[in-house]
Amino acid sequence: SDTPCPASAPDPAPSPPPAPELFTWEFATDPYPAYAWLREHAPVHRTTLPSGVEAWLVTRYADARQALADQRLSKNPAHHDEPTHAKGKTGIPGERKAELMTHLLNIDPPDHTRLRRLVSKAFTPRRVAAFAPRVQELTDRLIDGFAGRGEADLIHEFAFPLPIYAICDLLGVPPEDQDDFRDWAGMMIRHGGGPRGGVARSVKKMRGYLLELIHRKRGDLGDDLISGLIRASDHGEHLTENEAAAMAFILLFAGFETTVNLIGNGVYALLRNPEQREGLQSSLAAGETGLLETGVEELLRYDGPVEMATWRFAREPLAIGGQEIAAGDAVLVVLAAADRDPERFDGPDVLDLSRRDNQHLGYGHGIHYCLGAPLARLEGQTAIATLLTRLPDLRLAGDPADLRWRGGLIMRGLRTLPVTFDPRP
Ligand code: HEM
Repeated sequence: SDTPCPASAPDPAPSPPPAPELFTWEFATDPYPAYAWLREHAPVHRTTLPSGVEAWLVTRYADARQALADQRLSKNPAHHDEPTHAKGKTGIPGERKAELMTHLLNIDPPDHTRLRRLVSKAFTPRRVAAFAPRVQELTDRLIDGFAGRGEADLIHEFAFPLPIYAICDLLGVPPEDQDDFRDWAGMMIRHGGGPRGGVARSVKKMRGYLLELIHRKRGDLGDDLISGLIRASDHGEHLTENEAAAMAFILLFAGFETTVNLIGNGVYALLRNPEQREGLQSSLAAGETGLLETGVEELLRYDGPVEMATWRFAREPLAIGGQEIAAGDAVLVVLAAADRDPERFDGPDVLDLSRRDNQHLGYGHGIHYCLGAPLARLEGQTAIATLLTRLPDLRLAGDPADLRWRGGLIMRGLRTLPVTFDPRP
C-alpha cells in the first residue's frame, strides 16, 4: 500500500508551515509571520497583488538593500511591461500621473539628480532644525485640545493633524488655508487606493492651490520652503512652476501619511511594551535625549510607516537573491520584512529602544533615501516625548484585537488609536 508502516518509517522531516495568504485581513493586522515565512522559504517571491498586478516581493535585508540601490531597477513606470493595465500599477488615477507625478519618486538619473540637488538646496537640515520650536508649539497645541478630557483618538486628534500643519507651515501655506489642506489630505489618506472620485478632486484642488501659491510667492519671496524652491538654482538652472508644484506636492504627499504612521505605530508599540515605555519615560524625566533618539529609530525598524518601498521596474533582466527577474517586471522591496531579518538584527521581533547598530531600511536606501528624514525625526521625537511627558499614564482604551489597520500596499498604519489617561488642565 501507499501508507508507510508507522513503526518502521523514519521520522519525517518537519514539513514547513503552509505558505501564508497575503493581503488578507489577518495579514493587514500582523504581516510579520507571513514575512518570516517568505524570508525563509521564498525570499524573492512573485505574487499577484489585490489590484491584479503581478510583482516580485523582496523580503531579506541583504537583497532589499541591494535592490534599493540597483540602478537597473527604474522608478519610471514607463519601464513596466503592463503600463496601461486597467487598474494602473500604482492605483494612481491618470490625471494625477500626468500633472503631478513627475517627481523624485517616479524618475531616474539624470533628471532625478538635477531635481534632488535643487530641492536639497531649499530643504536643508538647517531649515528643519530652525523649525523645532514651531513643531513643539504645534504638538503642545494639539495635546491641549484633548488633555482635559481624559480620552482621545490619537490618530485623528494628534498623529494626523501634526504633520499636515507642520508641512504647511514649512512650505509657507498661510494659516487660513491650512484647514483646506487638512481636508484634502484626509480625503487622500481615507481613500488612498479606494474610490477615485474624491481623491482625484482633492488632488486637483491641491494642485490648483499650489500653482497659484507659487505664482503669488514668485512676486513676493519670503523665508518659507516654497520661496526656497523658487529661489533654488543650480548652475543657473531653476525649477519651473510646474516642477515646483510637483515638488511641493511630493513633500506633502511623502511627508504626511508616513509621519502619521510613525507617531501612530510608534505610540502603539510603546503602549504594548510597558517596560520599554517606562524606560523611555524615566530617561525623558531625567532630561536625557539619547534613548529618545535611538528609540524613534527602533520604532521605525520595529513597525515602520512604509511597509513596502515605492514601485521599481526592471529596465533589463537581472537577478536578486539568485532569482531571475525579467525586463519589465515590477519589484516591491518589503522594508517591513527586511527590518525583521534575523540575519541582520539580533532578536528582530523584540522592541529594544536602546538598540545599537540599527541600520534599518525604514527611510529607504540609495539615491531615493528619504529626503524628509530630518523633519520626520524631529516630528516623531517631539510628538512622542511630549505625549509621554504630559500624559505619563497614557493607556490603550479597549482590546488591541479590535484595532483596525488601514489596508494599503505601501503604507502601514492604524485607523484609530483610542487612549485614556487622567484628565489634566
Ligand atoms: C522617500 C520613508 C517622512 C519626503 C522616502 C523613502 C522612504 C521614506 C522609505 C524611499 C522610497 C523608495 O525608495 O521607494 C519615510 C518615513 C517617513 C518619511 C518612514 C516618516 C517617518 C518624510 C517627510 C518628508 C519626506 C516628513 C518631507 C516633508 C520624501 C521624499 C522622498 C522620500 C521627497 C523621495 C526622495 C527621492 O526619491 O529622491 N521616504 N519618509 N519623507 N521621502 Fe520620506
